[in-house]
Amino acid sequence: MTAPIDTRPHTPRVFSGIQPSGGLTLGNYLGAIKRFVAMQESGTPSLYCMVDLHAITVWQDPASLSRATRELCAGFIASGLDPEKSILFNQSQVAEHAQLGWVLSCVARMGWMKRMTQFKDKAGKNAENASLGLFGYPALMAADILIYHATHVPVGEDQKQHLELTRDIAAKFNHDYGVDFFPITEPVIEGAATRVMSLRDGSKKMSKSDPSDMSRINMTDDADTIAKKIRKAKTDAEPLPSELDGLEGRPEARNLVNIYAGLADVSAEDVMREMGGRAFSEFKPALADLAVDKMAPISGEMSRLMQDTGEIDAILARGAADARAIAAPILKRTYEIVGMVGS
Ligand code: TYM
Repeated sequence: MTAPIDTRPHTPRVFSGIQPSGGLTLGNYLGAIKRFVAMQESGTPSLYCMVDLHAITVWQDPASLSRATRELCAGFIASGLDPEKSILFNQSQVAEHAQLGWVLSCVARMGWMKRMTQFKDKAGKNAENASLGLFGYPALMAADILIYHATHVPVGEDQKQHLELTRDIAAKFNHDYGVDFFPITEPVIEGAATRVMSLRDGSKKMSKSDPSDMSRINMTDDADTIAKKIRKAKTDAEPLPSELDGLEGRPEARNLVNIYAGLADVSAEDVMREMGGRAFSEFKPALADLAVDKMAPISGEMSRLMQDTGEIDAILARGAADARAIAAPILKRTYEIVGMVGS
């Protein structure tokens, strides 16, 4: 179902989003936020969004949603996103997302949507009781990206299917209306930690919704908590191998190696060369030191930023105004293409 590669030149622009639906994890950091910072530093114009409209596809307590949105903004800034260089905003302040979302819901096919594995995972056995929004979510996600004509979308591995759908929706819109309008977006799934797994079970994704707090490192954890969680992470009895192949069938060991590589900005092969032959009693303290070194300053800075939510709100307001300036003409042109009368 993947759309053919499109070679038309589009001005490079980066968009990505994170749901403010509870705490941020090391998975969000390594799979997404750290990559956002790298893209910002590469100089490509970038927008990073707190996707609050997505968050309410499952129940959110209103006060917690507001707090999580501001905390996510604090997490972005504490990690190195700079509101002077990147556009930071929350989705609900830019109405064009929802407006284009409707148009794209009319382009997306039921058959495509039914194949989305994330809906099946999230709705579980009780799909009849899931919200309609949760089912339609990927069309809104396509709109988030296409309303800016974004060309590159940095995400973790779990978003790959949604980005393929975005390409299909863009291609079908262009085809149906005989235009060359929406870009065919490239997913950017890079780095050693595109799928960070639970610290308690190497076959499950690290997630904010896991009932065990020991399964994840939260971006708000302090140094002692980070070190304790790594010390207690599940492993096996063998020392680390010197080659990647030796991690076959050892998901917990593989996960810790990937986390080390992601934090140190090296490849998993590099970690094996450096750490091969060492027992976990040696590797875990090295990983704990590295994780504390990289993550504890971010958590400290997040709590400092959260003391001035007025400043956060001002950043979001400026970001939303900048985002609207890009989105409004693209929505206007979309409506014209579709045949809506704008009188
Ligand atoms: P969300 O909020 O679940 O996750 C945000 C980002 O974090 C990445 N991520 C991980 N990466 C590696 N290992 C993990 N364990 C891990 N957990 C989360 C996700 O891949 C994602 O990049 N649908 C999106 C939000 C969204 C969006 C968009 C993203 C809405 N509109 C437009 C990109 C473009 C989501 O639910 O991500």
